[in-house]
Amino acid sequence: MTAPKRPRGVRVLSGIKASGTQHIGNYFGALRQHIELQEGNRGTYFIADYHSMTTITDARERREFVHAIALDYLGLGLDPATSILYRQSDLPETAELTWMLDSVTPKGLLDRAHAYKDAVATGAPVNMGLYNYPVLMAADILIHRADIVPVGEDNKQHVEMARDIAIKFNNAYGEVLTIPDAYILSEVAIVPGADGRKMSKAYDNTIEMFAADKRLRKQVMGVVTDSTPVEGPKDPEASNLYLLWKLFAKADEAAEMAARFRAGGLGYGEVKKDLLRRILEYFGPARERRGELARDPATVEDVLRDGARRARETALGLVEDCREAAGLGPPS
Ligand code: ADP
Ligand code: TRP
Repeated sequence: MTAPKRPRGVRVLSGIKASGTQHIGNYFGALRQHIELQEGNRGTYFIADYHSMTTITDARERREFVHAIALDYLGLGLDPATSILYRQSDLPETAELTWMLDSVTPKGLLDRAHAYKDAVATGAPVNMGLYNYPVLMAADILIHRADIVPVGEDNKQHVEMARDIAIKFNNAYGEVLTIPDAYILSEVAIVPGADGRKMSKAYDNTIEMFAADKRLRKQVMGVVTDSTPVEGPKDPEASNLYLLWKLFAKADEAAEMAARFRAGGLGYGEVKKDLLRRILEYFGPARERRGELARDPATVEDVLRDGARRARETALGLVEDCREAAGLGPPS
């Protein structure tokens, strides 16, 4: 897969589930593209608090995650003057659309969803919310007539399901829904975690770009490396430390570092220190902006409310079109 051509003049839609602290996997896999695609497109981004209900049952915790993700987006440069940032539950019609979509979704489609299959495989409890996750996600996408959905590789299947579900609905009721495309940057498709597995909140192997200095340092220094001695030659592509470091380097720097790995004589500690320095430099302005906004929660809440108001202006029309097509509500 090659990098997709940068879209322009399209409706971009994506969201982040309010279930944890964002990390550099979320950033390179998703958030960075969300911010970049604002320019020249119509960006709508939301914080998926309904989705978080499949795993989180603490109300206060959920609100804290929502607030933190809003800060992340704004700190990273989401511009509320041009893009929309809203909280999923401020558009409750999403749940109504989910029901309409549920009713045309073959059960077999959801049986094949990775997230559900993984939960079953690990013996984790499965509630109907988890099972139905892809349909709620389809509603998020389709309610905004999204053209492009920037996500990480692991969400690709969900976007494909949204396409399938939209086609089913249109086959039943006419061409009401826009068929979306996933937008995935292949070079950063999966960011490795500190332990070499996919970086994920679920694995406790994350590097959080907005963590306090001490915590961030601990996460970076904790990146697992093999026991090759300093003088021994090392394979850069097999090293999650190199792969993480490379995310913050230019191509020529990465080539030079790869050569130093292969030549031997390079200590992992030195690379870790440099990685930390690069992370702090890369996210410096965003950390500063985010810190300022954190002292002003009312402004952040205003952004979310105004975002919901603007999101509703168009989304309610789509839901009305679906109701009309399906023969729901009073006849017009
Ligand atoms: P997590 O696995 O930490 O719970 P989520 O499932 O909440 O992450 O994913 C949020 C977004 O970040 C999704 O678009 C997902 O594809 C992307 N993402 C998550 N982890 C990674 C990773 N390690 N590499 C690339 N993208 C990722
Ligand atoms: N599944 C996404 C995540 O893992 C969150 C999400 C929910 C989403 N609905 C979406 C992403 C719609 C893109 C489009 O965080």
